[in-house]
Amino acid sequence: MRTVHELPELRAALAELRARGPLAFVPTMGNLHAGHLALVREARRRTAGVVVSIFVNPLQFGPDEDLDRYPRTLEADRRALQAEGAALLFAPPVEVMYPVPLEQQTRVEVPGIGELYCGASRPGHFTGVATVVCKLFNMVQPDLAVFGKKDYQQLQVIRRMVRDLAMPVEIVGVDTVREPDGLAMSSRNQYLSAQERRIAPALYRELQGAAERIAAGERDWAALEASVAGALAEAGFRPDYVAVADAETLLAPTADSRRLVILAAAWLGRARLIDNIEIPL
Ligand code: PAJ
Repeated sequence: MRTVHELPELRAALAELRARGPLAFVPTMGNLHAGHLALVREARRRTAGVVVSIFVNPLQFGPDEDLDRYPRTLEADRRALQAEGAALLFAPPVEVMYPVPLEQQTRVEVPGIGELYCGASRPGHFTGVATVVCKLFNMVQPDLAVFGKKDYQQLQVIRRMVRDLAMPVEIVGVDTVREPDGLAMSSRNQYLSAQERRIAPALYRELQGAAERIAAGERDWAALEASVAGALAEAGFRPDYVAVADAETLLAPTADSRRLVILAAAWLGRARLIDNIEIPL
């Protein structure tokens, strides 16, 4: 596996790879865990030309968020990617990604779906995500790109961007990888104290309980959302939102919804945890 940091060497390496077959791309912010590696494995299942990026994107962090303390572990990440059979790692410094001052950077906005839920709690977050992913797509020009369902709203924002801007990239979603007790793997789990870590699996347990109630016929979404938020608060979380939504539009379910998703975000100590569960109807 080659590692490149600058655009000219990226383009040269990509030209060689592209001559040998399709390119699959996995964008990340690094500090890789088994969830990220599942995306690399899915990409590798589809093609030998797997390109991974590691870039902690300042444009998607709010002013009071964890940009500075976000864990950076490039050497360990490189070894893990090598072991998964990735062909190329692109790890640009911030000046390569953003040569102009951040406030002058051209942006990609995804209205509606990008402004709900996490977009409402973290203003500008999905504009930062869409902008960096668009820019990475232009740099790498992949045939397909792999994203995790762990960040369900992010996946749908990217799908919308690709459709709205006619980007020639196939988007593939991969199921959430979890710890044995159900907690979704996340770099931000490291912010939890030992006691908070014991409480954390309640987030997924509550979502599973709500999914079971929907399967049993519950259709009062507001009551269900309130009951999950109440149970989370009881367990020691500070719930941000709990929402039952149509899995595609992320808007309130309608009579036409074929699949639902329950999305939740909740603070536990200084960690903001997100999770979701899909429900076929
Ligand atoms: P990051 O949080 O590093 O995640 C990179 C990719 O890994 C995302 O597609 C995310 O959904 C996926 N992922 C994370 N944890 C996962 C888990 N437990 N199971 C399955 N997939 C998981 O998401 C970002 O970075 C950034 O917003 C990015 C898209 C790179 C743009 O900066």
